[in-house]
Amino acid sequence: MAAGVVGPLPPVAEATLAEALAKSIPWLERVRFLKTGAEAVAAAVRLARVATGRDAVLGCGYHGWLDWCQGATEGVPAAVRGLFAELPFNDVAGGRDLIRARGPQLAAVVVEPVIVAEPTREWLQMLRTETARAGAILIFDEIKTAFRLSIGGAVARYQVQPAPDLVVVGKALANGFPLAAVGGRADLMETASRTWISSTLATEGVALAAAQATLEVFERDHVCDHLHRVGTRLLHGLHELQRAHPRVVTGVGGIAEMCFLHYATEELSRSVASRAAQRGLLFKRTAYNFVSLAHDEGTVDRALAMLHETLGEI
Ligand SMILES: Cc1ncc(COP(=O)(O)O)c(C=O)c1O
Repeated sequence: MAAGVVGPLPPVAEATLAEALAKSIPWLERVRFLKTGAEAVAAAVRLARVATGRDAVLGCGYHGWLDWCQGATEGVPAAVRGLFAELPFNDVAGGRDLIRARGPQLAAVVVEPVIVAEPTREWLQMLRTETARAGAILIFDEIKTAFRLSIGGAVARYQVQPAPDLVVVGKALANGFPLAAVGGRADLMETASRTWISSTLATEGVALAAAQATLEVFERDHVCDHLHRVGTRLLHGLHELQRAHPRVVTGVGGIAEMCFLHYATEELSRSVASRAAQRGLLFKRTAYNFVSLAHDEGTVDRALAMLHETLGEI
């Protein structure tokens, strides 16, 4: 803080953090820091377009609000919309056909590696083989999964080899401070010099320091093992709630580290969320609930008991 928060030159903290990240996540040979996940994924897509000289992109999952991936959103120009299509999660034959059909126009395939369920080995392998065959860049959007499934995210957990060409990380990276990064193969990252990727506050020092400290805690305290342990307890408890309240809860989605309940109706889901909040429990109804280092077995059990009471009232 004494040295200032934003300066005219990139701070030393940026290089120190880049080196520390590359040590823990070796496929991040070079990284570029930005402030939001949406910007970082857009930067990865830009690099892929520069490197391949192609325009078409296939995406799977949520990649932020920017135009390039928002096919169905009002306000996105039709010409931009036409360059993007959805790739179905865990569908090997469907994904292969889409990649092959775009062939020489395809710049990149961008995927969230976990969407409600775990990816199959065959799907991950298909992505790797087919993008290489098409000469397209494989980008893993690990904004949710890095520093959660493992420090190296889904690539590390599912041992994706060879690693994706580019990877995007964010959210847990700086533990709440605004920071995201795109990284990967050095030759691809160097194409940044042929285009324009920039943000005034990207090298803001507090978030870089927070990420450095976060990485140290992740390694020292084996945070991902903790997340898996308490998350598994939460996930099992959610399945028990489904068995106990089948009229209201129709399913459980996600994996240990990020999970949620499916409700019979929208109205019931709203009612559970607001009654749980009145009891002091914030439990998301339309997106993942993420366990953290601050949660232990007791926290999870209290949350499950509050949900059980709430569901019993409905
Ligand atoms: C997988 C994924 N990619 C990209 C984003 C966009 O990140 P941000 O909201 O920081 O722009 C998100 C945000 O939830 C995300 O989960």
